[in-house]
Amino acid sequence: MQKNQLALVVENEVNAVAQNTLESVLNDVIEIMESFEKSFIMGAISQKGGVGKSTIIYQIAVMLANLGFKVRLFDCDTQQTLQHQWKKRYEYKKQEIGLIKQAKEELAKKVADGKLNDYFRINSEKSIAKREERLKAVSSIDFANHNPEVDFSEVIKTSADFDIVLFDTACHLSEAQSRLLYVCDSVVIPFNNSDDEFDTNVRVKKFIQDEKVNAAENDEVITADIRSLIIDRPNTSKDRTEYVSSLWTDYGYQKTHGLLESRLTNRQIYRDVKNYGLGVAELDSPAGEVALLEIATVFKEMLISSNAKKAKKAKAE
Ligand SMILES: Nc1ncnc2c1ncn2[C@@H]1O[C@H](COP(=O)(O)OP(=O)(O)O)[C@@H](O)[C@H]1O
Ligand SMILES: [Mg+2]
Repeated sequence: MQKNQLALVVENEVNAVAQNTLESVLNDVIEIMESFEKSFIMGAISQKGGVGKSTIIYQIAVMLANLGFKVRLFDCDTQQTLQHQWKKRYEYKKQEIGLIKQAKEELAKKVADGKLNDYFRINSEKSIAKREERLKAVSSIDFANHNPEVDFSEVIKTSADFDIVLFDTACHLSEAQSRLLYVCDSVVIPFNNSDDEFDTNVRVKKFIQDEKVNAAENDEVITADIRSLIIDRPNTSKDRTEYVSSLWTDYGYQKTHGLLESRLTNRQIYRDVKNYGLGVAELDSPAGEVALLEIATVFKEMLISSNAKKAKKAKAE
């Protein structure tokens, strides 16, 4: 076997392993989502801006839409990060439709003029078909902008037809963010894994603690399973990982909110896809698959730990 052939075999095997893992996590996500009797409600909050709320919400939304779920996405941030992304998504779609049409016309003209041999014609057709296929993967999501003052419960009442409703919020702990705790099955709080940013967790802890007191005083129920999500640098050491997890147990953070075991890595691809309003689930690239596996793994953990799952279980027993 020649060296380059061997390289191809190895590459295919590596891809097959990655594919299996991704496929199995996605299958688990589908299975858990389908076991819920009502729409899954989730939101992202944080004390600090620029930590990755909009990114995780958008990536989960696009992933689920591509799996065939009915997704409703609310941008409740007055900065409207997601709305910008949403516009880019439509621009991308529109532009790509135009470009494909143009490529088809050019090809037809060359063929009609007898200027193209079969080899080039077949390959051009294949490439156009691939682009059309890719465009089909840009799935649709019900997207809405919302004032942070909106009554979340009312909005959720009108969203019963959706499999999932996601809320993206502005970058500070606010009244809107506390109200989300009462309507969501799961709330995620991303934070960057660095010493500088760890302090935001102190405020988050206080915020949730206070809200739990409020809930008890007002006879209300916080429905959300609340979990922090670490956004890791790619080279985070094992020591650092253990240190942060120990802070959770040693400093009592887990009394107010959990820490997701799965993490997101700081990856260029998350920034790149933003320019087109795409999700990593819509890319046809190894980097996209690695990122998708990460998103799917985080989301699966959120589903499992969420109270939606527990409610369903309790009913079945
Ligand atoms: N895991 C990640 N890897 C790399 N860049 C990220 C990641 N998460 C977010 N970003 C980038 O960081 C910036 C802020 O992210 P964003 O999701 O808008 O944060 P927030 O909504 O909390 O303000 C954006 O430019 C985004 O592309
Ligand atoms: Mg945001």
